[in-house]
Parts: sequence; C-alpha cells; structure tokens
Amino acid sequence: MYRVTHKKALRSCVRNWHQGGQSVALVPTMGNLHAGHLQLVKQAKQLADKVVVSIFVNPGQFSEGEDFDTYPRTIEEDLRNLEEVNPDMVFNPDVDEVYPGGVEYETQVLVPGLDNIFCGAFRPGHFQGVATVVSKLLNMVQPDIAVFGKKDYQQLLVIKKLVNDLCIPVEIFGAETVREESGLALSSRNRYLNQQEKDLAAKLYQTLSGIAEAVQTGRDDYQQLEADAVETLENNGFKIDYLSIRNAADLGAPAGGELVVLTAAWLGEARLIDNIQIKR
Ligand code: PAJ
Repeated sequence: MYRVTHKKALRSCVRNWHQGGQSVALVPTMGNLHAGHLQLVKQAKQLADKVVVSIFVNPGQFSEGEDFDTYPRTIEEDLRNLEEVNPDMVFNPDVDEVYPGGVEYETQVLVPGLDNIFCGAFRPGHFQGVATVVSKLLNMVQPDIAVFGKKDYQQLLVIKKLVNDLCIPVEIFGAETVREESGLALSSRNRYLNQQEKDLAAKLYQTLSGIAEAVQTGRDDYQQLEADAVETLENNGFKIDYLSIRNAADLGAPAGGELVVLTAAWLGEARLIDNIQIKR
C-alpha cells in the first residue's frame, strides 16, 4: 500500500498501471474510516485491478459554522484500518496540493436541479464543494471507475450528473449502505451521539423501513406517510430537516418508477442522514 501526497507521484503510478493494461478504481473519502468505507474498498477491489483510496477533508464543502475544524483527522488509525482491506494506494494530499490557487479563487462546479434541494437547501454551497473536489479527484487520479456509498444518496446523484454533464470518462458505482445491527447507518458523525441517543437513532431507519413497506404494499398517500413519519420522529426527540418520498432517478416528485425515501434529522449534536430505495 503506497501512501502518496502529491499529484505528480499519483499520476505517474496510475499511468504505469494503465500502460500495463490494469484498470483502476477510486474510493474518495474524508478519512476517519469505518466499516462502511472499508466495504467500499472491498467493492472497488472486485471492480478493478488496482484501488486508490483518497483521504482529504475538503474545506470547500463545509459552510461557515460547520465542523470543518473539528472534523476527525485520524490518518494513522485510517492507515492501520486500511491494511485490513489492502488498497494499492492511499492518496492523502494537503489543502494546497488540491487547491493551489486557494479554495475561494478556483473554478467551481455547479449541479443545477440537484445541488440546492434537500441537503443542499440546508447546507448552501455544500454540493458545489463536493462536486468541485470530486471533479478534481477524478481528474487527478483518472480512474476507470469510482465507488461512492448510497448512504449519501443525493451526493451519489450529484456525482453521476456531473460526470455525465462534463463528459468525464469514468463509471460511477453506488455501493449499499453498511449499517449497525440496530439499522443505524455507519457514519463518522455518529461519534457525536451518546449511548442513549445512539439507541434512539435506530428509529430513523425503522421509520424509513416502515414507509418503504407501506409503499410496497400499495399506499400512495405520500404526503400523509411523510407527515406521520415526521411526527413519530419528532415525538422521539429528532429535529427533522426534511423527510421526503421522491423519484429515485432524479429526486423529482414521485412518479411511476423506483422511489427513494430520504431524510436528514438532528439528534443532539449529530445531523444524521439516511435513505431507502423503494423498488416496486
Ligand atoms: P465521507 O463522508 O468520508 O464518505 C466517503 C464515502 O463513504 C462516500 O461515498 C459515502 O457515501 C460512503 N459511506 C459513508 N458511510 C457509509 C456507510 N455507512 N455505508 C456505505 N458507504 C458509506 O462523502 C464524502 O466523504 C465526501 O463528500 C467526498 C465524496 C469524499 C468528497 O469530499
């Protein structure tokens, strides 16, 4: 497992792999790796000959007042955890290597229609920051395939759209969400939950599962289902940013195809996001 911090070394290594006829997968992360991230690496290894994991806490996707400064940076522990799944390279650049011109002064990528709804409405500029850094990472690494978690469902759609719109020659693969036994989706931000809140947090997945089941058995009074779910969660101490049943393909109003129910909710200091796709 090489550890590389500069684009030049990264590029030359990937070029050698490609010249040798080997395919390359990228797994972008912000570090503080947990079993969900490691699952993405395992998935990537099944999809390509070589796997690059990037670890970069991207200042461009945090708004003022968010947790950029306190976001856990645990590189030594991350490297130890990665040994378990053994990717070929860890790319861990510093901020100047990614934004030599300064975060505020460089070209930004907008993804209209997707970057200002749901999480984008509550975190203005967030998806612009994600879209920009992912574009940069894809261009730096030039992988054949990049693996993202469905846990961040809106992010996955943002990335699929930007790759399509900007004609970036890479396949985007969405990997299933890894959960605790209780159903709580693994997240770096679960560390902000105390034990009592952690037990309660499982209610989020249970509530989404209840909606998925109801829709699968024929209910289509989506607004009522949403309202009931919000009430249940609020009664359990959650503060809901949004909870919505949408088209899985583009987050538009529910139509005939596959649906997704997605939510963001605060429990104490933690903002939890989760979703379930509803196949019909
Ligand atoms: P981060 O939150 O570190 O997540 C990295 C990747 O891990 C994302 O694709 C995310 O969807 C996936 N992931 C997180 N929790 C997961 C879980 N429980 N199961 C499966 N996959 C999970 O998302 C980001 O970083 C950043 O926005 C990034 C894309 C790296 C751009 O900076």
